[in-house]
Amino acid sequence: MTNVIDDQALQRTSNQALIDWVSEIAAMTQPDGIYWCDGSRDEYQKMLNLMVDSGSAMWLSPRKKPNSVLVRSDPADVARVEDRTFICCNNEADAGPTNNWRDPRKMKQSLQALYDGCMRGRTLYVIPFSMGPVGSPIAHIGVELTDSPYVVANMHIMTRVGQKVLDTLGPSGGFVKCLHSVGYPLVDAAGNKKKDVAWPCDADNKYITHFPETREIWSYGSGYGGNALLGKKCFALRIASTMAREEGWMAEHMLILKLTSPQGDVKHIAAAFPSACGKTNLAMMNPTIDGWKVETVGDDIAWMKFGKDGRLYAINPEAGFFGVAPGTNYQSNPNAMESLKENSIFTNVGLTDDGDVWWEDIDGPTPSHLIDWHGKDWTPDSGKKAAHPNARFTAPARQCPVIADNWEDPAGVPIDAILFGGRRATTQPLVLQSFDWEHGTFLGSTMASEMTAAAAGTVGKLRFDPMAMLPFCGYHMADYWQHWLNLGATSGAQMPRIFYVNWFRKSDDGKFLWPGFGENSRVLKWIVERCASGSKTDAIRTPIGYLPAPGSLDLRGLDIPDEDLAELLKVDAGDWLEVVPALRQHYATFGAKLPKALAAQLDALEKRLKQA
Ligand code: GTP
Ligand code: SPV
Ligand code: MN
Repeated sequence: MTNVIDDQALQRTSNQALIDWVSEIAAMTQPDGIYWCDGSRDEYQKMLNLMVDSGSAMWLSPRKKPNSVLVRSDPADVARVEDRTFICCNNEADAGPTNNWRDPRKMKQSLQALYDGCMRGRTLYVIPFSMGPVGSPIAHIGVELTDSPYVVANMHIMTRVGQKVLDTLGPSGGFVKCLHSVGYPLVDAAGNKKKDVAWPCDADNKYITHFPETREIWSYGSGYGGNALLGKKCFALRIASTMAREEGWMAEHMLILKLTSPQGDVKHIAAAFPSACGKTNLAMMNPTIDGWKVETVGDDIAWMKFGKDGRLYAINPEAGFFGVAPGTNYQSNPNAMESLKENSIFTNVGLTDDGDVWWEDIDGPTPSHLIDWHGKDWTPDSGKKAAHPNARFTAPARQCPVIADNWEDPAGVPIDAILFGGRRATTQPLVLQSFDWEHGTFLGSTMASEMTAAAAGTVGKLRFDPMAMLPFCGYHMADYWQHWLNLGATSGAQMPRIFYVNWFRKSDDGKFLWPGFGENSRVLKWIVERCASGSKTDAIRTPIGYLPAPGSLDLRGLDIPDEDLAELLKVDAGDWLEVVPALRQHYATFGAKLPKALAAQLDALEKRLKQA
């Protein structure tokens, strides 16, 4: 094995804590060699070539998708695994009822048995990365150690990797330690060699573990998405949420968009929707209303810190999109289609006979023959999906035609409005505005959404997903709500206005009532007008919040039946009263930690509904 304290390491960093940690992990995992990533274009190409040569990826046709590869995962490793995700803090009570807790010492002990020699026959890659523009006061640094070239290539797109990060870290800077292994050594303890497979993993022994107190992540057994690209959900949400609580900022599962009105007024909106509920689509939409412009700052995660003026400023900690492929087309999301035209990685999509990618609802006629995500022949009457429902593209954010000019501003963008939303077939109206920050926090804390394929579980099942953070909050959810309340109490009127949207209400025959996508710009327009005027004239007060007054939603040119619109904006006090017991039950799971202000909000809602 290459000595870690070799020239390579010493030329790259003087951070002794980093060098020591790499040595310690190398001693445990026993890789054949260690490679320090420099983040260069050459290195990226080297990773792709390595993957292609080893049979774990294939080049797509250079005429169809230049410099892009297709990767097929093990069918047992296709999404985040929430039941294998653990928060390992010293006190179980600090993890709360919505997280799987393990004692940190015991967890590390049992993981050590798995990590012991797990990189034999492989290379250990050291990936120094910045979440956010390098050096931004809102950004933070991590280092991922992984044995997967696929992870290295994806991290190149999703984060900022390289020497600049190590230089910024300096000799004594702190970083989040992110350890990842696919858990598939090529040599066993006795020295017997094993052949590699296209997608190595340890499907029966996945562990996605977080140690918030020491700011460490240990991920084992999965190579997929948020399980393995540790800058994303593990660091930027689970660990960062605990940092944010300590330091007085916010790490949220939110897109960030810049909205410009025909008069040139600029507003920034952040929106928290659960996985596969429309963040990427909203962040890149082409508005259907004249003169309005949407530009993308981020599509999945927002880090928000307070500026000198007391307002919240957000950065997108990521540098690329790890987007849901199925459903993406030139009609629903043309800017995503343009973003993934080249230099992209496609995971678990179908392959056309002419070397292009394919997925359900992509543009054009359905091909008569494809290779599906299992690598098998597929025809339209196979009766199976060609792409996995959680198939993803990894594409550089800079390739997005509507990326905002300020998306890499190290100071962040000032947030005017925060949106909550999810998939709700019934009850929840198209849009409502909260009465104030505290009521908005209540709305976020009682968010519910039908489950999607982004995580292993039952698709369509309605579950509470507070602030879209259920799988991502690194500490007790009720403490997280208290954090929201505290920030609101401190910053008062400077805080963004809070709204709740629902693009997914359905008619009795199961059709979406709202056309969605670009038409959502109509709702964004109402939202920023509400932020600007502060007047109540274009809204009506209902027991659940302010709803658009008749005529205040700009529906010009939209062909939508009156009865559908009425249904979309209907607030039925009876329906809502029926929901109240479920809300009480949801709150009861948080015990004594439930903030009193939120319990009072629920009582007040019930009272308003009964009076309605
Ligand atoms: P993650 O990356 O998992 O966090 O997901 P996301 O929130 O970015 O979701 P995304 O924008 O990728 O959308 C997921 C699915 O929702 C896609 O199949 C979209 O076609 C669909 N979708 C997005 N916006 C709308 C909408 O306004 N209306 C309807 N009906 N579907 C939508
Ligand atoms: C999500 O599931 O919310 C995603 C995809 O954005 S993953 O990176 O796998 O978490
Ligand atoms: Mn997400």
